[in-house]
Amino acid sequence: MVNKITVVGAGNVGATTAQRVAEKELARTVVMVDVAEGIPQGKGLDQWQSAPIEGFDSRIIGTNGYDETKDSDVVIITAGIARKPGMSRDDLLNTNAGIVKSVSEQIAKSSPNAILIIVSNPLDVMCYVAMKASGFPRERVIGMAGVLDTARYRGFLAEALDCSVRDIQAMVLGGHGDTMVPLISYTSVSGIPITQLMDRATLDAIVTRTRNGGAEIVKHLKTGSAYYAPSAGAVQMAEAIVNDQRRILPCAAWLQGEYGMKDLFLGVPCKLGRNGLEKIIEVELTADEKAALSKSADAVREPMAAIKL
Ligand code: LAC
Repeated sequence: MVNKITVVGAGNVGATTAQRVAEKELARTVVMVDVAEGIPQGKGLDQWQSAPIEGFDSRIIGTNGYDETKDSDVVIITAGIARKPGMSRDDLLNTNAGIVKSVSEQIAKSSPNAILIIVSNPLDVMCYVAMKASGFPRERVIGMAGVLDTARYRGFLAEALDCSVRDIQAMVLGGHGDTMVPLISYTSVSGIPITQLMDRATLDAIVTRTRNGGAEIVKHLKTGSAYYAPSAGAVQMAEAIVNDQRRILPCAAWLQGEYGMKDLFLGVPCKLGRNGLEKIIEVELTADEKAALSKSADAVREPMAAIKL
């Protein structure tokens, strides 16, 4: 348990994240900040009133300002507008860049030692905005996307195989968009390579459904995007950090030569511990996977070049 975790944004992703953080007692105090007057206060009070029933002692506070967030150990940034049907994550680019920039600057002032977990979309570019605006080193700016994309992939595989989700090991790399790269060569069920258990056509259909996993939910919801699985992903990363678990999870990290790439955020296997990003793990990729990762990097570089900071 750390002293304080701040969640920026009290929308569906932010509020669900704050509740999960509190239920796991990852911090003594959980602060939820949002510009909307009354929303973080009301949701925070409601959440705190669930504490005696659920039995957690993390105090949740909702606020419109940054004073209460002072000296946070971890800050999870979910602020921004969400996708509507037909919108790509890149359509959110300029609006969310402005929001994430201003949030990151304020956090850097009030919590200069915090570790940032970015959830706002378009994810990989928002990580870049947060790193630039905060001035934090890459160890303390990590994006949540791979955990979510991998959870979708694992869920679909477990459903198709009629087995426990717990036994599916997998890793989805690349940018958080439709160019993401599910690594079939590293997908296994309790160590059994997936290709021994499933035909290629079924596997390819699952890969495609994973790539469109976010859009599938936006299409159902019509007025917003996913939040139960995204918040679970962010909290798994926060838990690995605050409890120094040294878990190896696919996260967006600032590449400095790893995978032959430099100066961009991209989803890669990361070891997370109390210092944030402890290490980027480089794995061998097939020629197809390498090509797919490079295509995914191009899809991140393009919107990255379009924003002005
Ligand atoms: C998704 C959005 C949140 O993948 O990016 O559901």
